[in-house]
Amino acid sequence: MRKLLIAGNWKMHMLNHEAVGLARQLKVKLLGAHRVDVLVCPPFTALTAVAEILSDSDLHLGAQNLHDMRCGAYTGEVSGEMIRSAGGSWVLIGHSERRQLFGDSDAWTNRKLHAALEAGLRPVLCVGETLAERQAGRLDAVLARQLEAGLAGLSPAAAGTLTLAYEPVWAIGTGVVATPAQAQEAHAVVRRIVGGLLGSEVAASRQILYGGSVKPDNARQLLEQPDIDGALVGGASLKADEFSAIVLAGEGVVK
Ligand code: 13P
Repeated sequence: MRKLLIAGNWKMHMLNHEAVGLARQLKVKLLGAHRVDVLVCPPFTALTAVAEILSDSDLHLGAQNLHDMRCGAYTGEVSGEMIRSAGGSWVLIGHSERRQLFGDSDAWTNRKLHAALEAGLRPVLCVGETLAERQAGRLDAVLARQLEAGLAGLSPAAAGTLTLAYEPVWAIGTGVVATPAQAQEAHAVVRRIVGGLLGSEVAASRQILYGGSVKPDNARQLLEQPDIDGALVGGASLKADEFSAIVLAGEGVVK
């Protein structure tokens, strides 16, 4: 049985005092939520401050990106080790905004995945198709390409801390959520492809999160799907009430 994971991607939001306030509220609101794992991913600048708040809680902390090198002359970049030293233990990799806006290729995403594992971070590898790719009937091919390239060189033994996220680009920040059936279908494809690459045991044990306009009122139907093991929440993760409601929706799901 895969435990549900509800993750908040705060993107480029939250000044330090706001991040601390949100983390404090979440800590209180989610005190009793033990059946679901919870992860928050603030901007780099707020990692240390949020780590301090969450240090006596069960909430997990991660970053939204990393550079694949350990250190060096890479102005403006942040390494996995730096994330660790700031208190983070997870990291998002290959988010569609990184791919579309900042040139994160499949190959670079793969290098970041290996760098994350080397730094002892738990990677959340994000994949997902654009609307044009979906309409052209290329869902499976796009997911296969992103997963094959993204997971290249990963052994089944090293996949023990891997989490995947299916985030259809057309559903991110648009308010258009994939239907539970559409999301389930894509998650099953992701699991089948991961099975082909890393074996059925790895595929069965890895969590696959759904991301794209997850809100308190649609979370439950999504999380009830057999291959949806959690959510990667953007906009709704910035409000303690909404994010907590999504976590509590997960608490209520029996699989
Ligand atoms: P929204 O929940 O705002 O659509 O964002 C989803 C996302 O990109 C999470 O990583």
